Amino acid sequence: MDKELCELMLEEGRKIRGKSDELYNHKLAGHIGEQYKLSRDKIITKLAVFLEGYCIGYNQWRGGGGMKPQAKLLSLWINYMKAGDFNPPHSHGADLSFVAFPDVPKEITTDCAVFKGTMRVPGGISWTYGDGDRTCISVVHQLPVTGDLYIFPAILKHYVFPFKSPVTRVSLSGNIMFDQDSRVDYFSGKKHNP
Ligand SMILES: [Fe+2]
Repeated sequence: MDKELCELMLEEGRKIRGKSDELYNHKLAGHIGEQYKLSRDKIITKLAVFLEGYCIGYNQWRGGGGMKPQAKLLSLWINYMKAGDFNPPHSHGADLSFVAFPDVPKEITTDCAVFKGTMRVPGGISWTYGDGDRTCISVVHQLPVTGDLYIFPAILKHYVFPFKSPVTRVSLSGNIMFDQDSRVDYFSGKKHNP
């Protein structure tokens, strides 16, 4: 995402941050104190280009597909993640989900530098599939930086590790649902290239 889109996301968040009636915690898995439902109006048009990119990649992977889903943004929320907050393993109820990071403080990389464990670093996000089969890729990890946006199947389990620095990391997430025809195209049994 470019700076302009990051700033738009942060601005949308500033409009609702602190309004207790906009809190979305009761609908989400996160152990995060500040999670707010966000208006979709301004963000929705900006996401189209990323969904387009996802479709191009998906079609290439699957082989010659022309999947270009008509989709709705079902829900959108913003998280203000602070030291000690985390997201346990969970999935979402839609077709695709995304998470965008308009503001990731650099201090979190310091947490990473001193982390000695064997698992993922503080602030990292992981997506897992299956039971950890060693013969294929069953987990993907990322340490987000400002401007990152990840789109993934909503059923894919994911989790976020806590960090310790006294900073706030801002992320936006949402769920995308295809219309009926697009769902048939997406989930039908076309073979992908080996
Ligand atoms: Fe999630």
